[in-house]
Amino acid sequence: MRTRHDLVTQSLHWFVAVMVLAIYAIGLGREALPKGDFRTLLLSLHMSLGIGLMAALMFRMAWRLFAPPVEPVPTANSIRLAARLGHLGLYALMVAVPVIGLLAAWLKGRTVGFFGVPVLSPFAVERDAAKWLEDAHEISAHALVALAGIHAVAALIHHVVLRDQTLRRMLPSGT
Ligand code: HEM
Ligand code: HEM
Repeated sequence: MRTRHDLVTQSLHWFVAVMVLAIYAIGLGREALPKGDFRTLLLSLHMSLGIGLMAALMFRMAWRLFAPPVEPVPTANSIRLAARLGHLGLYALMVAVPVIGLLAAWLKGRTVGFFGVPVLSPFAVERDAAKWLEDAHEISAHALVALAGIHAVAALIHHVVLRDQTLRRMLPSGT
């Protein structure tokens, strides 16, 4: 069995991680700006990248089914269970946050697109539901980034304190 994640898994992991953080930063950053063209442009960019993330994530989850298995790092069962639950939570939130964002945008009647290609809504405008979904989108996005922070700290503890292969096997060989 392999001792490292394959290159596709590694690339998708880091690509998705950077995308999530960039999309989050753009979402929060634009909230702080006064209404205007630049704020509107940032929302289009936020939504386009978010839709791109959904596609990358679908590919990642499909790839996970076929990826060559990696040898488990020797660790206590409780830590393995915590890691599994953490990863499950990350996947669940990575799916939920953009889906809720997309529904919020559609139900509000916003123009949604992927870098200029329209992504048309199958729903009628529902402003009350949109407001509720916007709040859910914001709260779940904070939860996603908080869990990703805990996850990153756990990875660094594996590397620096426990000195095991956990972080190294998510990096290209030679590191
Ligand atoms: C992982 C992906 C995403 C993350 C982490 C994320 C995060 C955020 C954050 C932090 C905000 C600011 C919330 C606030 O302060 O009110 C926001 C706003 C927003 N996001 Fe996302 N988002 C993601 C994907 C998407 C997608 C795919 C769409 C739609 C296609 C979307 C649509 C929106 C809209 C319409 C707003 C503005 C809501 C408002 O005006 O209150 N987001 N997002
Ligand atoms: C938004 C940011 C991030 C997200 C959403 C994320 C998500 C995930 C997910 C879902 C997995 C499970 C992979 C699988 O088994 O399918 C994973 C694995 C991993 N992540 Fe992240 N990650 C993020 C950032 C980071 C950062 C910053 C680090 C390092 C400091 C890191 C280190 C790792 C490592 C080492 C693994 C492999 C664990 C193992 O082999 O058991 N991740 N990540």
